[in-house]
Amino acid sequence: SASEKGGWSSFMAKEISEEPDAVANTMRARHHDGQVVIPELEALGDDVLAGIDRITIIACGTAAYAGQVGSYAIEQWARVPVQVELSHEFRYRDPVITPKTLVISISQSGETMDTLMAVKFAREAGATVISVCNTQGATIPRESDAVIYTHAGPEVAVASTKAFVAQITALYLFGLHLARVRGTLSVPEQARQLDELAAIPAKLSKVLESHDSIAQLAKWMADTRAVLFLGRHVGFPIAMEGALKLKELAYIHAEGFAAGELKHGPIALIEPGQPVFVVVPSPRGSDEMHKKVVSNIQEIRARGARVIAIAEQGDAAVLPFADEVIPIPLAAPLFEPLLAVIPLQIFAMELSSAKGLDVDQPRNLAKSVTVE
Ligand code: G6P
Repeated sequence: SASEKGGWSSFMAKEISEEPDAVANTMRARHHDGQVVIPELEALGDDVLAGIDRITIIACGTAAYAGQVGSYAIEQWARVPVQVELSHEFRYRDPVITPKTLVISISQSGETMDTLMAVKFAREAGATVISVCNTQGATIPRESDAVIYTHAGPEVAVASTKAFVAQITALYLFGLHLARVRGTLSVPEQARQLDELAAIPAKLSKVLESHDSIAQLAKWMADTRAVLFLGRHVGFPIAMEGALKLKELAYIHAEGFAAGELKHGPIALIEPGQPVFVVVPSPRGSDEMHKKVVSNIQEIRARGARVIAIAEQGDAAVLPFADEVIPIPLAAPLFEPLLAVIPLQIFAMELSSAKGLDVDQPRNLAKSVTVE
């Protein structure tokens, strides 16, 4: 009903507006004096986390892209190899699992059958399983050794939004918890990363202010047949998530690519008028990576692509080549995905509604898929 939507046109619009709170609430009570301590992991024992030699993240759909973003931060901070796999692929390929394997499952609903079966399989094979879940008391958390709940609040719209940013937040907290236990980050460095995360909710509110201009863009593009998304490093899973959203909500063929892969194939798809969203990494992170993405933009622009850049506020290098720039506030490179995904969620939602489709209940999809 309208009152359940709190005055918003859809649950999805309401849930997007709740993203700053989803991040803030997921952080709450999980840090003290610049260090992350996740109370739910205490029962597991620090010795277990100190002893693991590999992490496999398993999930489906949007949760898997959150996992991919998280894998960059966990590996960088805790110096443990992290691999991300779709639950149904992991389960049926005879993976190497030892008592030193940590499996992290991610599921908003906690009921996704593919992920549940993979969790049971991993535990039977001897792994320790931690689940990141948004639903108190769901089946996947009950089958796991420990749970890190995301506190995004109930998510009703089929397409996941606030749970996604909460999942990344939970994984980043886990990465800092693990780095503390394993002693891989100095105390000031842990505090610095935590400060970056704590600054995200206010920056998210800033990104939400671009809603109307993104809605305008979506209206202009209502007849679009195909959209490509490019990203690099943590921007790569964001590109894939942007494409997934557009498929789910607007039934438009969309694909996300690693920007570095462009020359190995996808550039053949570029013809005049082809819309391409590019998630541009901050020039303050890796100048080299930034330059490479700007040169990707030039390459596709030269072939007639219509470039919509999601770039750091004030990034002058993209302006001459982009048809549209959606600015995001300054953030340390690992934290940019939390901001860059928002315009893509809004774009898919607005394009769906411009086409007169049901934003909250796309055809053929279910909020939680309880069959394998
Ligand atoms: C379904 C939904 C997706 C979701 C995926 C995983 O396919 O349509 O939006 O990302 O399941 O759901 P989960 O509850 O496990 O996060």
